[in-house]
Amino acid sequence: MFRLGIVGAGAIGISHKNAILKNPDCEITAICDLAEEKALQLAEGTDARTYTDYRVMAEVETLDGVILNLPHFLHKDVTIFFLEKGIPVLIEKPMANTVEECDAMIAASQKTGTPLAVGHVQRYYPCYHVLKEMIEKETLGKLCSITEVRNISYFENRPRWFLTKAQAGGGILMNYGAHTLDKIFYVTGKPITKLYAAGNNFLTGDDVEASAQLLFTLEGGVSASCTYCGCKVPMFYETNFYFTNGMAQVRGGQELWLSEGNQPLRKVDIDDGGKNIFDCQLIELVKFLKGEESHIATPAYSKEVIVALEQAFSQI
Ligand SMILES: NC(=O)c1ccc[n+]([C@@H]2O[C@H](COP(=O)([O-])OP(=O)(O)OC[C@H]3O[C@@H](n4cnc5c(N)ncnc54)[C@H](O)[C@@H]3O)[C@@H](O)[C@H]2O)c1
Repeated sequence: MFRLGIVGAGAIGISHKNAILKNPDCEITAICDLAEEKALQLAEGTDARTYTDYRVMAEVETLDGVILNLPHFLHKDVTIFFLEKGIPVLIEKPMANTVEECDAMIAASQKTGTPLAVGHVQRYYPCYHVLKEMIEKETLGKLCSITEVRNISYFENRPRWFLTKAQAGGGILMNYGAHTLDKIFYVTGKPITKLYAAGNNFLTGDDVEASAQLLFTLEGGVSASCTYCGCKVPMFYETNFYFTNGMAQVRGGQELWLSEGNQPLRKVDIDDGGKNIFDCQLIELVKFLKGEESHIATPAYSKEVIVALEQAFSQI
C-alpha cells in the first residue's frame, strides 16, 4: 500500500484525492495546506491527518510519495525539500517556472535517487492514445499539421497568484500551453525545432499574458499553431490534426471526431473503462514508483515543455 500525502488542497486537490480513494494500492495518509480549513475540507471522508506546514508533515508521517498541488513559484523548492527527505514526488504541471528550476529539480532527484514525476494529466484522455496510434501507424496518412484554439474567460475567479509573472511564470500560455505542448509531444513523440510566439495583455494590464499565439515546427516537419484567448470571451476548445488523407478533431480536450479523406467528421465512441484521467495518472504513478514501465511524464520530458514556454516568453 502506497501511503500518499497531498500538499495544496486548492482547486485540483479534490481530483487527486478522489483518484487515491479509488485506487486499491494507495491511501491518503496526510493532507497539508497553509489554510487549515482547506486541508480539513479535503480530508473529509478520509483518515488523513491534516497539516499547515509540509515540513512538519514530512517529519511526523511515513510517506511513500507526495502529490504537490501548489502555486508554480513553489514547485521547485517544495519538490526539492521532499526529494531530499527521500520522499518521491508527483509535481503538478507545469514542472516549474523556468528551465533553471527544472534543472535543479532533476539534479535533486538524481542526487538523492528519489523518483520525481510531473502531473501532465491530459495525455490520459483515451482520445490521445487513439491519436498516438493513428500517427504511428499512419492510419490517415502522414500527420502534416496541428491547430489548437483554446478560449476561456481566464481571469474570472482565479486565485491571485495565477495573475503575477513572478508567481505563475506566465498567464494563459503558461497554464494551458503546458497542457498543449505535453499533448503534442506525447502523441507525436517529436521535439520542437523552431518556435515563434506573440501575445499581449490588453485585458487587465497585469504582467501575465491574457492572449497568446504559438507557431512551431516539430522534428520531421509537422507544423503547429496554437491560439489562447483568456479575455472575456465564450469558452471554446478545439484541436485539429490534419493528415495527408483526413483529419482528427478533439473537442473540449477529450471528444474525438474523425474524417477519412474529405468525408464529414464522425464522432468516435471510446470506452474509458470507467476511469478518469486522474485515476489513470495515479495508476501510472504507482507503476513508476514500483520501478515498472509507466506512461507518467518524466522530469526530463517535462523540462522540454518549459524549454518551449521559456522560448515563447522571450518573444512576448
Ligand atoms: N492538471 C490539471 O488539469 C490542473 C488543473 C488545475 C490546476 N493545476 C495545477 O495544480 C497546481 C495548483 O493549482 P490549483 O488550481 O489547485 O491552485 P489553488 O490556488 O486553487 O491551490 C493551491 C493551494 O496551495 C496552498 N498553498 C500555497 N502555499 C502553500 C504552502 N507553502 N504549503 C501548503 N499549501 C500551500 C494554497 O493555500 C491553495 O489552497 C498548479 O500547478 C496548477 O497549474 C493542474
